Amino acid sequence: MSDAQVTTRRAFRRTDDYNPGTSKLKLVEKTLPLPLLPTSVLVKVHAVALNYRDANIANGGNPWPVLPNGILGNDAAGEVIAVGDKVRTLVLGDKVGPIIDTEYISGREVGRSWLAADEDGVMADHIVFDEAVLCKLPTHLDWVEAATIPCAGVTAWSALKGMSIGQTVLIQGTGGVSMFALKLARAAGLRVILTSSSDKKLEQMKEKFASPPILTINYATSPDWNQEVLRLTRGVGVDIVIENGGTGSLVKSLKCTRRGGIVSQVGYLAKQNPMELAELVSTIIDRRVILRGINAGSKHDTEDCCAALSASQASLDDLIDRIFPFEQAEEAVQYIWEGRQIGKVVLKL
Ligand SMILES: NC(=O)c1ccc[n+]([C@@H]2O[C@H](COP(=O)([O-])OP(=O)(O)OC[C@H]3O[C@@H](n4cnc5c(N)ncnc54)[C@H](OP(=O)(O)O)[C@@H]3O)[C@@H](O)[C@H]2O)c1
Repeated sequence: MSDAQVTTRRAFRRTDDYNPGTSKLKLVEKTLPLPLLPTSVLVKVHAVALNYRDANIANGGNPWPVLPNGILGNDAAGEVIAVGDKVRTLVLGDKVGPIIDTEYISGREVGRSWLAADEDGVMADHIVFDEAVLCKLPTHLDWVEAATIPCAGVTAWSALKGMSIGQTVLIQGTGGVSMFALKLARAAGLRVILTSSSDKKLEQMKEKFASPPILTINYATSPDWNQEVLRLTRGVGVDIVIENGGTGSLVKSLKCTRRGGIVSQVGYLAKQNPMELAELVSTIIDRRVILRGINAGSKHDTEDCCAALSASQASLDDLIDRIFPFEQAEEAVQYIWEGRQIGKVVLKL
C-alpha cells in the first residue's frame, strides 16, 4: 500500500428523524479501514453531487429499505491517494468516483447494493472502495462537474440509449437527471421538448440553450401537456420520453410517444397513485410503445458515458445550480427537498 497520512474521516450520517424541521444529518468522525485490503482504494473526495434521492432518503420517503443511520450520498468525485498492493487498474492521482450500485458491473448481475441505501454512501471527506466499483472520470471536467456523472449522468445516459441524430426527446422537469439528459441530447443532435412547472425556469433554459431553440411546455398550467407535445410533433409524438413523474404522468407520456417509441421510466416525482394507471395496458398496446425501466446504469454504462463526455469534451458547468461547502450538507439537502434547484446541487470539499 502507498503511504497516506490520513487515518480518520468525516462523514454525514442520517439521523433518521423524519419530523419536519429537525436535523436530518449528523457529522461524525471515524477511523478509516487501514491498512487497505489488497484491492481497496482510498479516495480523497473533492465533491459530492446531490440528488432528489438523497433528500427523499433523508426525509424517510425512499420506497426501498435503507441502512439505519447510513451515510448519505451516491455521487462523488475524488482523487486516488492510496491503493492496496494488488490494485492493477488505478494509480495515485487518478480522478475517480464509485458506481452507485456496487453489484452492477456488466449489467448481467442479479443482485444489487445501492450506495446510501444497502451500504454507506459517499458524503464523506474520504471513501474506501474496491477498485472493481471505481470508475475513472473525465479529466477535462473539474471536481464539481465530474461528481454529477455516476448517478444523474449515467441515468440520463441509460435513459437516452438507442436514440439517433434528428430524433425528438421529451424531457420532464428541470432537475438534475433532466438537465444532464438535455446536455447529452444536445450533444447527440436530438430535438428537445422540455417541460417545467415554472415559466421562469423555462425562460432561463430557453436563454441558456438558445441555438438551436428548445421547445417548452409548462406542465402545471397545461395539465393536458401531452396534447401540446402532440401538437409540437404534428400529431406523431416524440421518439423518447425521459419520464420523471411516475403514475401521475406515465399514461400521458405514453399517449404522446410515437408508435414504436420509447418511454424511459426514470423517476417517481409526483404523488404515486396506482389508480392513475387504469389506461396503462391499453395505451401501451395501442401506441406500441416500449416502456423501459431505468435504474442508473452499470459500470460499463458509466464508462461509456464518460467516454462520450471525454470525446465531445462537453463541459457540465452549465448544469450546476449551486455549490455548498461540505459543512452545509444539511442546508443543501433541504434546498433540494424544497425543489429550488435547476440542475445540480453539489457539495465541495
Ligand atoms: N431510475 C434511476 O436510475 C434514477 C436515478 C436518479 C434519479 N431518479 C429519480 O428521477 C427523478 C428525478 O431525479 P433528480 O435527481 O433529477 O431530481 P431533482 O433534481 O430533485 O428534480 C426535481 C425537478 O423535477 C421536476 N418535477 C417535479 N415533480 C414533477 C412531476 N410530477 N413531473 C415532472 N417533473 C417533475 C421539477 O422541475 P420543475 O421545477 O422544472 O417543474 C423539480 O424541480 C426522481 O424521482 C429520482 O428519484 C431515478
